[in-house]
Amino acid sequence: MLQVNGIHTYYGDSYILQGVTLRVNAGEVVCLLGRNGAGKTTTLRSIIGFTPPRTGTIFFNARDITHLPSDRIARAGIGLVPQGRRIFPDLTVRENLMLAARRTNGKGWDLSAVYQQMPRLSEREKHRGDELSGGEQQMVAIGRALMSNPELLLMDEPTEGLAPLIVHEIARLLLELKAKKQSILLVEQNLTMALRVADRVYVMNKGRIVFEGTPNSLRDNPEVEKQYLGI
Ligand SMILES: Nc1ncnc2c1ncn2[C@@H]1O[C@H](COP(=O)(O)OP(=O)(O)OP(=O)(O)O)[C@@H](O)[C@H]1O
Ligand SMILES: [Mg+2]
Repeated sequence: MLQVNGIHTYYGDSYILQGVTLRVNAGEVVCLLGRNGAGKTTTLRSIIGFTPPRTGTIFFNARDITHLPSDRIARAGIGLVPQGRRIFPDLTVRENLMLAARRTNGKGWDLSAVYQQMPRLSEREKHRGDELSGGEQQMVAIGRALMSNPELLLMDEPTEGLAPLIVHEIARLLLELKAKKQSILLVEQNLTMALRVADRVYVMNKGRIVFEGTPNSLRDNPEVEKQYLGI
């Protein structure tokens, strides 16, 4: 579904991604791990077109999207839950969700499907974004991405800064999305949670992929965990 081939991405003169190759097959949950500053967000920004790579290619459903503008990449079926859960603070939960709505013809994610999946959001639907807890804001951010019915969901550290109980809830939500065959590229620093939900994992360090395998093969490589994940 998604094939990233040897991309090199810069911020101005800063050379960040130094030949990143990865793929997500349809229905897979793939996790991208790595320390702060490894280049995880930059990888997602390259895919969604905010910071396109200087060289290398990105294919989505066999279509070259490398240099498409980000709105067209989104319309092609890629949704992003950005790091730091950027929801609109002065809009209500419902308004935040409706902004991203797309006609579904009764299939896929609409407001009622999102409320069914995350009942907490329906209870809070008239509350403004800035009245929500961090966990609730994260759920709005995820719900908003789902409302665009993406074929592939990119998620950037959805559990960052959240209490263990909420992390557990987000993990459960991810497992439910996985059971629904939602394809996900998940950036995480929470290794336990990543290994629980992922079909495959990549580990990044200094703009390169340094490990690729299954959760079990990563568990069998404590030196990778120690060297690149700080465990
Ligand atoms: N807008 C920018 N301009 C210049 N350099 C940047 C910019 N954004 C990020 N960088 C640099 O690019 C490198 C990779 O950053 P990136 O945000 O992709 O890391 P990350 O793996 O997502 O880290 P974190 O886990 O902290 O979110 C870092 O060295 C960072 O300082
Ligand atoms: Mg990041």
